[in-house]
Amino acid sequence: TWTTEAFVEEAIRDIRAKVGDKRVLLALSGGVDSSTLAFLLHRAIGDKLTCMFIDQGFMRKGEPERLVDIFDNQFHITVEYVNARERFLAQIEGVTDPEEKRRRIGHEFIKVFEEESERLGPFDYLAQGTLYPDVIESADTNVDPKSGERIAVKIKSHHNVGGLPKNLRFKLVEPLRKLFKDEVRKLGRAIGLPEEIVRRHPFPGPGLAIRIIGEVTAERLNLLRDADFIVRDEISKQGIYHDFWQAFAVLLPVRSVGVMGDQRTYAHPIVLRLITSEDGMTADWARVPYDLLEIMSNRIVNEVKGVNRVVYDITSKPPGTIEWE
Ligand code: XMP
Repeated sequence: TWTTEAFVEEAIRDIRAKVGDKRVLLALSGGVDSSTLAFLLHRAIGDKLTCMFIDQGFMRKGEPERLVDIFDNQFHITVEYVNARERFLAQIEGVTDPEEKRRRIGHEFIKVFEEESERLGPFDYLAQGTLYPDVIESADTNVDPKSGERIAVKIKSHHNVGGLPKNLRFKLVEPLRKLFKDEVRKLGRAIGLPEEIVRRHPFPGPGLAIRIIGEVTAERLNLLRDADFIVRDEISKQGIYHDFWQAFAVLLPVRSVGVMGDQRTYAHPIVLRLITSEDGMTADWARVPYDLLEIMSNRIVNEVKGVNRVVYDITSKPPGTIEWE
């Protein structure tokens, strides 16, 4: 049976035995996985760990600033902040195909990562917060690390797994690869990660870029960021943030007719995606009160310029995926 204490002790022992006094590089995303990994490694090897945060420009409102503040100021784990917003946006300009978008973002991520690791390095090891579901969803053919059985599944190209070049100069450290999300949360909590990060909803690697269906522009990013903030703000205010696995907004490229005051509008719809799930592998759309939907709808249409309609996604997984791209 799995106990957190035993896992922490064993993981720290394994990490130390594996990396010795060599330097380890970690790409911090701000999510619970990479943050837990950072705390675990910091505990195991201290300042032999370097955390790099690449700001792709696809984060939620206020997130990059908050992340650096928590790590640097509160916990004295130095974060190398890399502002790469413009180059990521340039990479996906005009791209509408979801897999192509993911591929380009993943590719650019590796490029920035390589450049920056050269600047900050040399490093011997690369730490990755790969989880068990990432491993099975991302591999065409793979070996189940728990049962040893062969499995063949590919759903989406998650850019945090398998995207690294074959001639990788680093050796990998992946201490979370046998864990499910709820186990990572327990682990994070046990090693002192703030509750704010421990219970944060999962967020995909390519971020808001895959929640803007079709072409991503700076303007659409700002629009979605504001709508997304309202969704999280309202559930936080009502004290129900933790009732959801994820709760977010999706921006559609189509436009529809509306009316505001005595003006005709022709603008984008926002989709609300509020779901419950145990592990992200299956999910159910949340049966939220109509009143909550009404508040979100009113606020989004009134406060976010460029949106004139809000719809609610009532598709579970399967057959839908959680994300729209
Ligand atoms: P789907 O959309 O496949 O998502 O039902 C399942 C879970 O995975 C998250 N997700 C990602 N996480 N990189 C990640 O780290 C990605 O590229 C990615 N795509 C989806 C999604 O938010 C959900 O929790």
